[in-house]
Amino acid sequence: MASTDNIILRAEDITVGYGEMDILYNVFIHLKFGEMVAIIGPNGAGKSTLLKAVFGFLKPKTGRVMFNNLDITGMKPDKIAKIGISYVPQVENVFPSLTIQENLEMGAFIRTDDFRPRLNEMYELFPVLKKRKQQKVGHLSGGQRQMVAMGRALMLDPQVLLLDEPSAGLAPKLVSMIFEKIKDINSTGVAMVLVEQNAKEALSMADRGYVLVSGRNALDGEGQALLQDKEVGRLYLGG
Ligand SMILES: Nc1ncnc2c1ncn2[C@@H]1O[C@H](COP(=O)(O)OP(=O)(O)OP(=O)(O)O)[C@@H](O)[C@H]1O
Ligand SMILES: [Mg+2]
Repeated sequence: MASTDNIILRAEDITVGYGEMDILYNVFIHLKFGEMVAIIGPNGAGKSTLLKAVFGFLKPKTGRVMFNNLDITGMKPDKIAKIGISYVPQVENVFPSLTIQENLEMGAFIRTDDFRPRLNEMYELFPVLKKRKQQKVGHLSGGQRQMVAMGRALMLDPQVLLLDEPSAGLAPKLVSMIFEKIKDINSTGVAMVLVEQNAKEALSMADRGYVLVSGRNALDGEGQALLQDKEVGRLYLGG
């Protein structure tokens, strides 16, 4: 068998869209165990669409998604969640009328074992949430909501976390705080696909990155190499 052992997730040759309209054309990404990979690119490039296709919300017209050498193309999101991939959508990623604790418990909904130890780990990771666990999430700041969304996704103890624009709409100080949390999560061994508008910061902390443009792979490489790439700099990093 070919040695793909260090790769946990691979999407290859993905063509997908909405209805008749294709948005992604033959897109590929892969993620190694424990790795953090950033996906950057202009608005409308198809970054969110790619995550939706990986997580089973959209069925690719071509290509396949492999997770731990299992073909998960076309598998339903709840089943994908059960086998070890969690997803934090770009919008509407929390239940505003529920408390922090209830949101985290919702994340554990499909667990059949005792999730309380995991809940405590989430409160260790996000102490600010522990202090407010009975508060409704709708009353929290943007940064705290984002922590709830990540905590909810982590309740299943996934091997892979798909994060769509975790820093969107946050004040600069909160952006760095959320990025620190993302590093902490990655350092616990969770491999991540991180879609980000803050391309510079995302590439600085990611092991590797992919640039998507108009639904196609434009460039990929090590985070540091992309950061220093003249074209990437000119197009996406404001210099
Ligand atoms: N539910 C949908 N139905 C039809 N078209 C959609 C839908 N969602 C997204 N699109 C279209 O697909 C294209 C890619 O959108 P997508 O959200 O994947 O881009 P993105 O790279 O995540 O952009 P952004 O940086 O703004 O989040 C856009 O042209 C968008 O209008
Ligand atoms: Mg998006």
